[in-house]
Amino acid sequence: MVEQQRKADNHAGIAIVKIEAEIGVSLGSGLIFKNARFDGDAAGSGSAAQVFLRRINRFGAFLQETGTADSGLGGASVLREALHLLPRENYLYYGDNANAPYGDRTYADIAVLTEKSVSAMADFGIKAAVIACNTATATCIDALRGAFPFPIVSIEPAIKPACETEGSGRVLMLSTAATASLPRYKHLLSTMKDPSRVVSVPCPGLVERIERGCFAADAFDDILEKHLSFLEGETIDAIVMGCTHYVFIKKAFARYASLHFKGKAELFDGNAATVRQLGRVLKANNIENPCGSAHVEYRTSGDKARLDPIFRSLIAR
Ligand code: DGL
Repeated sequence: MVEQQRKADNHAGIAIVKIEAEIGVSLGSGLIFKNARFDGDAAGSGSAAQVFLRRINRFGAFLQETGTADSGLGGASVLREALHLLPRENYLYYGDNANAPYGDRTYADIAVLTEKSVSAMADFGIKAAVIACNTATATCIDALRGAFPFPIVSIEPAIKPACETEGSGRVLMLSTAATASLPRYKHLLSTMKDPSRVVSVPCPGLVERIERGCFAADAFDDILEKHLSFLEGETIDAIVMGCTHYVFIKKAFARYASLHFKGKAELFDGNAATVRQLGRVLKANNIENPCGSAHVEYRTSGDKARLDPIFRSLIAR
């Protein structure tokens, strides 16, 4: 307790000195509050220093963004949901488009690239992060949580609600090759009541086409035929978008299902659940914005001039 008190007072002292030096210059970066926020909150209430910390934390949080990262454009489907459900927050989006797709890369590559993306967002001064990429989550979410001081929210393929659909048909889980083969997904699958109902199908090729700005319902028939024709005529109760890119081409999946499957093939994604979890995490850390309207900052490792209009139109849909 004495040690916690000392830490909190020490952080308060550092924060005051830095505020005096930097106020009006780098408040927007939020970096000056990074350590103070979490240690101070953990120390609980009590001293004047702790009360002061909580006040500046709220002010800092008000200015700071929540970072949202993906290999490319897919995470914009999560951000779009966040803009609906948490419209008072500010967001930084980081798309690693220069290195997309992640799904066919080695696990080591995916982990290194994701760490770089989150570091880029940390340098910007975010208050929390969302890994809006099933592939990155399945590969390295635990390592990321150990490496960064802010809370990190992740996404999972929505097989749980999909498996709750009525019917005797199958549940399709479509994702990148990496997601479907990683232990994290296999463990999630093993927790379902009847894992054998779920057919996990990697769909390489879809992300590349989406990254080129292609979203038309009939523009993916060839790739879907290649990956899903072995299920021709089967009863499919649910299809899980196990990749955030796929959420933008739901019409392509619905079209394919109506032509080739029996059953209602209801479409599921994990976006809303992820954003609701972000809301809980911001609240639990006392860093949610009490008022204001969303500002979105877009960063990419790719060709920003080409991608920016696509990104803006995707989050506005
Ligand atoms: N959007 C990503 C996902 O949710 C990854 C796509 C990729 O880069 O392969 O898995």
